[in-house]
Amino acid sequence: MKSYKIAAIPGDGIGSEVISAGVEVLAALEKRMGSLRFEVTQFDWGSDYYKRHGEMMPADGLAQLKPFDAIYFGAVGAPDVPDHITLWGLRLPICQGFDQYANVRPTKILPGIRTPLKDVGAGDLDWVIVRENSEGEYSGNGGRTHRGMPEEVATEVSIFTRVGVERIMRYAFRLAQMRPRKRLTVVTKSNAQRFGMVLWDEIAAEVARDFPDVAWDKMLVDAMTVRMVLDPKSLDTIVATNLHADILSDLAGALAGSLGVAPTANIDPEGRFPSMFEPIHGSAFDITGKGIANPVATFWTAVQMLEHLGEVESSQRLMAAIEKACEAGIMTPDVGGTATTREVTEAVIQAIHGSNS
Ligand code: IPM
Ligand code: MG
Repeated sequence: MKSYKIAAIPGDGIGSEVISAGVEVLAALEKRMGSLRFEVTQFDWGSDYYKRHGEMMPADGLAQLKPFDAIYFGAVGAPDVPDHITLWGLRLPICQGFDQYANVRPTKILPGIRTPLKDVGAGDLDWVIVRENSEGEYSGNGGRTHRGMPEEVATEVSIFTRVGVERIMRYAFRLAQMRPRKRLTVVTKSNAQRFGMVLWDEIAAEVARDFPDVAWDKMLVDAMTVRMVLDPKSLDTIVATNLHADILSDLAGALAGSLGVAPTANIDPEGRFPSMFEPIHGSAFDITGKGIANPVATFWTAVQMLEHLGEVESSQRLMAAIEKACEAGIMTPDVGGTATTREVTEAVIQAIHGSNS
């Protein structure tokens, strides 16, 4: 029996609806597999916690999370708390404090979900975006002076280090190598940004020498948006900076039919700290409490969590169950269905128990 300690942080808005659905699905997998156990501990951190305590998580939050095998995260963001507080108070300190430098964002068109792309169907689009998750434009380096004065100045400094770029590049090449097509596209803006982005290009060429079986190419981020729309089948694994990959992954989500189904994994590839798994979508206060939040992204990120934990068989079983529910048309309104969160969850649980694959 393999047992894993999972820290669940549902956070704000629909976060608690989708995470509780995800925890039910993990329990169903436990039952089906017989050889797995998930010990889930809930943490009530987020905007409500902030309103009571003046902080998004306790000062020793990271120390509390450290002993866990993985973190299952819902969403943060509340209408009455500024976004930079919710973000820098909980999610980013976890990513940075646990050096989760690889942010991995798979994109596929799930069966039954319609893409806005012409002549492209399920199976045609199969990408993984690897987002640098520890530095770059999100370094948090900068400041403001002369606040409110006409001469006010703000800086937001992008930081690119050889260590930071090389480790994400190696991660991306390794991932590309493990995928059937062995193809990597390195995205920068090295025509206009001639320091950090040129460093990216140079390091990509250096690391590529260690991966002779990976076919790789370079794209400028603006041209990349065009290629994603006009020639999506030519792409497979993609690596980009923190901000570029943030933007490209929204585009990828839209091209795959919905951002509501897109998952993301914040990974410490060295396994020194727990990695964190979450849906890309936010807290969605407009539909909170209505029971119609789409739990698919949260289930799909559980697939990533199981893969990361080395539980390949159960990760494949869960992915197949998600696809089966989608194919049967059991989907929430955001992707054109009429099902509730509950109904989608039950369909996936049923598929977990039913399938023999
Ligand atoms: C994402 C999100 C976040 C980001 C927001 C909420 C700050 O858009 O995970 O892509 O940009 O990192
Ligand atoms: Mg984003």
